[in-house]
Amino acid sequence: MPRLRKLRIRAPGGSYPVLIGSGALGELPALLDGGERPSRLHVVTDRRVARSHGDRVERLLGRTGLPLSRTVLPPGEGSKSFAQLERILRDAVRAGADRRALLIALGGGVVGDVTGYAAASLLRGVPFIQVPTSLLAMVDASVGGKTGINLPEGKNLVGSFHQPRAVVIDLDVLATLPPREARAGWAEIIKTAAIRDESLLGLIESESAALLGGEPSLLARVVERCVRIKASVVEADEREAGLRMVLNFGHTLAHGIEAAQDYGGLLHGEAVAVGMAFAARLGEALGRTPRGTAERLERLIAAYGLPARVAHLPFERVWQAMSRDKKRGPRGLRWVLLARAGEAMIAADVPEADARRELRKFLADARTQRRRRSRA
Ligand code: GLY
Repeated sequence: MPRLRKLRIRAPGGSYPVLIGSGALGELPALLDGGERPSRLHVVTDRRVARSHGDRVERLLGRTGLPLSRTVLPPGEGSKSFAQLERILRDAVRAGADRRALLIALGGGVVGDVTGYAAASLLRGVPFIQVPTSLLAMVDASVGGKTGINLPEGKNLVGSFHQPRAVVIDLDVLATLPPREARAGWAEIIKTAAIRDESLLGLIESESAALLGGEPSLLARVVERCVRIKASVVEADEREAGLRMVLNFGHTLAHGIEAAQDYGGLLHGEAVAVGMAFAARLGEALGRTPRGTAERLERLIAAYGLPARVAHLPFERVWQAMSRDKKRGPRGLRWVLLARAGEAMIAADVPEADARRELRKFLADARTQRRRRSRA
């Protein structure tokens, strides 16, 4: 079996291992046997992931001899809701969960976020393990302890910080990921490189063909580098008092788009790609991001099959959803901009009028580009 990469996150809210590599799922029974043994396991997954991986994971968990129950959610962002949170909690309680019960989030970012929040709330907090099955969840959502659900008024507006007991990243499960979701995962990889690591940015630029083709050792290296970067940020600022905000590069507009589309339009990663293009354009317009950075980023976004613009979005609807962003400070929205490719900065002083003007231009640009394309 190929070597598993193992690193440890040391956050104030918990210290835990992250296993990365082909076949990592096989480590689940040993992980559950080491340390404090749970009283029972409750798996949360979605219908699509259950079809591809549910039986295998439950067989592996069965080796522990622990009682096992499950909740299967509908796939998609709509499951980050009070209704699905309630289902998980009630299923777990009816199955007999006590404070030593352990939840297992088997799925993408949606499953991880809602399961983590269920774990944070159930009996005032039970442990959980993240088993991310999407590229996006592997490099970002599963690590760092952010959990939560959406409100119609805005994304992730209800939640808590609750660190998992372990994160198990098995790259083999990516083989069953639908192509659109696989592409969406690259947005968080591009984000991670853009905010902290220009050499990683260079690597994903020069190796796009091999990476999109799923070259296993290169992919494992990229995933590990993203997790290490995320770990260093989360360890320094678990609760997002400052530095952690840089992980939200592209997310201010992305969350506005997702809410404006009632969580049924662009995938989160696609919305982040558009949001990064806008943040880079905004930074350039304000003279804080070197000229040419936005174009470089947009070329990379396109190389990974992601959108850099979105059409048909009414400015006011997006602006209203963005204005509820958790990162807003006393002087309005706090933007994450690029000081240069590979280094982000938090800008708390962007005049609202400038951001509004640039966003109007950016949204109109999508309409112009579409008209040009349809005439061509
Ligand atoms: N996804 C951004 C963060 O974990 O802080």
